[in-house]
Amino acid sequence: MTDAPIRYVEPVFRPPSEAQSLILPVTDGCSWNRCAFCEMYTAPQKRFRPRDEAEVMESIRRCGERYGGSVTRVFLADGDAMTLSTRRLAAILEAIRRALPGVRRVSSYCLPRNVGRKSVAELRALAELGLSLVYVGAESGDDDVLARVEKGETFASTRQALEKLGEAGIKRSVMILNGLGGASLSGPHAANSAALINAAQPEFLATLVVGFPEGEARFRAKFRDFEPLDVPGLLREMEAFLSRLELKRTVFRSDHASNWLVLRGALGADKARLLAQLRAAIAAPEEAPLRPAWARGL
Ligand SMILES: C[S@@+](CC[C@H](N)C(=O)[O-])C[C@H]1O[C@@H](n2cnc3c(N)ncnc32)[C@H](O)[C@@H]1O
Ligand code: SF4
Repeated sequence: MTDAPIRYVEPVFRPPSEAQSLILPVTDGCSWNRCAFCEMYTAPQKRFRPRDEAEVMESIRRCGERYGGSVTRVFLADGDAMTLSTRRLAAILEAIRRALPGVRRVSSYCLPRNVGRKSVAELRALAELGLSLVYVGAESGDDDVLARVEKGETFASTRQALEKLGEAGIKRSVMILNGLGGASLSGPHAANSAALINAAQPEFLATLVVGFPEGEARFRAKFRDFEPLDVPGLLREMEAFLSRLELKRTVFRSDHASNWLVLRGALGADKARLLAQLRAAIAAPEEAPLRPAWARGL
């Protein structure tokens, strides 16, 4: 190990809301790595592997020595931390408690299948040890869309995982990808994604616009007849999605750099206002506060 307490293998990704967190890799890459739209962990150095347990423990101990009580949030990286066994995750959370006593929130990404292998009691034990939030890439609630993009999940598997996490007291931040079904599947993508979110009632919901910064080749190899939605089509899909949402208490964000129109609010309280913003942008796009193309990104 070098002088740095943590060994990073670039590129490292984290959700926007983890900007202030200590990013602690406990796995490298993603064990699935087959989603047609996702190129985050395709570089050779990001081949999936769990980090050596001794290395993770040593990193936590050295972060404790160096940063002490000043760290308040920890994000367990990379794309698939929750694939680790409950025993290993519990050991990591205990070590964080011991070495970094100021930590109030530990979070990670979580594929629905990571949860399938863990019981509610096991998840509750992790929550009690400090795991308070997971980011779940649902992407869509439509089984046809999920199959075409090779997510390896279904409406049912994602719903079950989200419910299990909720029952265990772990907050869920769910990501849905605007435009993922293209023109042909836009209707069912919007309707079934809203049905999934209504069933799960997550604490946080974020929508991102699917994009292909490295080209469409990987995506089109799987979703051959994909016809991308134009900006009005993306906004109409958002309207179809939002108008079907029946949420009690969900913080909604559509402010990731990939979005054309920034929307933020609490659902259901702000549903009418958010829909009005969307409808105004659909009716008069030239007057809407759309992000210029140069300011968008992933
Ligand atoms: C690191 S991944 C998610 C973590 C976890 N592996 C999962 O699937 O739940 C982060 C999220 O970025 C989003 N993402 C990935 N590739 C994208 C793309 N090409 N365009 C837009 N969003 C993308 C997806 O919503 C994905 O779930
Ligand atoms: S979206 Fe998540 S599961 Fe799919 S390849 Fe990317 S990191 Fe892996």
